[in-house]
Amino acid sequence: MADVREAAKLLEKAQRVVVFTGAGISAESGVPTFRDALTGLWERFDAQSLATPQAFQDDPDLVWGWYEWRRHRVSTVHPNPGHLAVAAMKNAVVITQNVDDLHERAGSADTVHLHGSLFMPRCSQCGEAAALPSTTGEPDEGRRVWPPSCVRCAGLIRPGVVWFGEALPEAALEAAARAASDCDVLLTVGTSGMVYPAAEIPRLAARSGAAVIQVNPQPTPLDSVALVNLRGSAAQVLPDLAARAWPDQAAE
Ligand code: APR
Repeated sequence: MADVREAAKLLEKAQRVVVFTGAGISAESGVPTFRDALTGLWERFDAQSLATPQAFQDDPDLVWGWYEWRRHRVSTVHPNPGHLAVAAMKNAVVITQNVDDLHERAGSADTVHLHGSLFMPRCSQCGEAAALPSTTGEPDEGRRVWPPSCVRCAGLIRPGVVWFGEALPEAALEAAARAASDCDVLLTVGTSGMVYPAAEIPRLAARSGAAVIQVNPQPTPLDSVALVNLRGSAAQVLPDLAARAWPDQAAE
């Protein structure tokens, strides 16, 4: 309990707060994480077979079908109290590795997406943004669905996410690095802190003098970076932490 009180004091005093999230913040909404044993998404699908440019080139229908299945899954779930607590942190900069839209649906409109979004498909040839398919009904898990063609160049439309081996969106990475370098407190929630360059963000904040607070039920490599480690789930810890740090906001 002392830890959550210490974390709340750090947040209460902070002028500039960054919230850095990973798949764990969406776990209690029913969106599987990537590396958790048993429920991890990769347990059922091999990352290399689905989330690389080569995989899309070899099997556009398998890769597109998998992402459409994920997008539909996300559309059927809801932001959890963890997302809502983050959205209530009015001046916080929210930086996520997630490709779901749960932060936005909770009210964090300006979320920085380091790994792109399931909701921003684009042409694999000319890069033109594409409309989301209006197909009804959820593609079966792993069912092949042929991707639409670009209205401008007829190239195949691809998911708007960053694949292994691809560079992160420059503007997003710059915004994240700037926010992490300037903040007083960085709250990292639900990430294993293992995938770079995104995983550099909490470390950059710590090097720049910020206090890092971690929320995760499990130990991670970020344990040694964090000043305070709150062992618990996002939906449990974040509402309590926010209420202690900003009691007047909680009263709203
Ligand atoms: N609340 C908070 N944290 C949780 C919860 C929860 N309810 N449930 C699980 N976690 C934690 C796990 O302990 C784990 O440390 O969330 C973390 C999820 O880690 P990963 O599955 O590795 O997800 P993430 O860190 O977001 O992965 C980073 O890797 O595969 C790529 O691009 C993908 O963005 C992803 C990146």
